Amino acid sequence: MEEKEENRIITSKETNGDKQLDVALRPKKLDEYVGQEKTKANVKIAIEAARRRNEPIEHVLLYGAPGLGKTTLAHILANELGANIRITSGPAIEKSGDLAAILTNLQEGDILFIDEIHRLNRTIEEILYPAMEDYALDIIIGKGPSARTLRIDLPRITIIGATTKMSLLSAPLRDRFGMVYHLNFYEHGDVEEIINRSAGILDVEIDDYSIEKIAARARRTPRVANRLLKRVRDYCDVKGEGVIEKKHCHSAFEMLDVDELGLDLVDRKILELIIDKFKGGPVGLNTIAAATGEDMATIEEVYEPFLMRLGFLDRSPRGRIVTDIAYKHLGKKKTEKQKKLI
Ligand SMILES: Nc1ncnc2c1ncn2[C@@H]1O[C@H](COP(=O)(O)OP(=O)(O)OP(=O)(O)O)[C@@H](O)[C@H]1O
Ligand SMILES: [Mg+2]
Repeated sequence: MEEKEENRIITSKETNGDKQLDVALRPKKLDEYVGQEKTKANVKIAIEAARRRNEPIEHVLLYGAPGLGKTTLAHILANELGANIRITSGPAIEKSGDLAAILTNLQEGDILFIDEIHRLNRTIEEILYPAMEDYALDIIIGKGPSARTLRIDLPRITIIGATTKMSLLSAPLRDRFGMVYHLNFYEHGDVEEIINRSAGILDVEIDDYSIEKIAARARRTPRVANRLLKRVRDYCDVKGEGVIEKKHCHSAFEMLDVDELGLDLVDRKILELIIDKFKGGPVGLNTIAAATGEDMATIEEVYEPFLMRLGFLDRSPRGRIVTDIAYKHLGKKKTEKQKKLI
């Protein structure tokens, strides 16, 4: 299986091709941010309250799967507040001094966006505690018994943290965020709206049928929706008259190997492998990894979550099991032996 994560059309992770497109398609105002109504309502109030009191907003933690709009929302917050935003990420901050330098260079009201905040090293994380609680930086001077701490005041700033893995965030860090928002997978109608909006920005004509079909394949994720739209547009540009319409969109999906639920070649191969070679499971993750040539972490973090969300794959103590609905979707029949196994 030589297909790699970066090349998958339906991956929810950001690829290089996305970056260019994202600048144009990324909503800049809260009103343009589709869906996530509850979060949006809360954010709106927080912004208004901060404006009235003329204070920076509380620290915000955004969590949710890749491509659901965490970075987008952080930028919108800065934009709506008229604040400067400085962007960094957990793995980018290697030394305590790096974070101290970033913090001391911020101005009153600035926003520091820390992406992948769960990957901050613990000793560096501790620098954030006083910065978030007291707008202060504690510096240790000297070594051994004569060491002492010097406290420097920081401007009042807002930290916005984003994470795809809430469970990896330490409790003390999580507790220092005044607002915590979980971004959900999008409703079908919201995905349609995003596709419609993006088509408008890309200045491409699209019929309702194609909007619906692209939305159905987008794994309820805006990033995937935008990428699919772009690829289908490319196809229709070449094969048709530059309009995304019913007669071309299905051949586009076929060429892209994305089926009507948004499963691609790799997803289907994993399921078929478990069915054909391991009688539908249970089979251990390491065995699946060895048989597909993918690494265990990629299978566990990238492929499995979506298959499990669809109810196609179950995790049991003895390993992974392909469910009846997955058999049905793939047009496979269970043998008598397989039926008995589960
Ligand atoms: N609510 C939304 N309305 C419209 N478009 C959206 C929305 N959320 C996300 N998008 C689109 O999806 C793209 C991906 O979103 P974004 O980069 O914010 O995801 P993310 O949650 O930060 O992902 P990652 O975890 O990979 O960093 C954006 O560039 C934007 O075009
Ligand atoms: Mg992001």
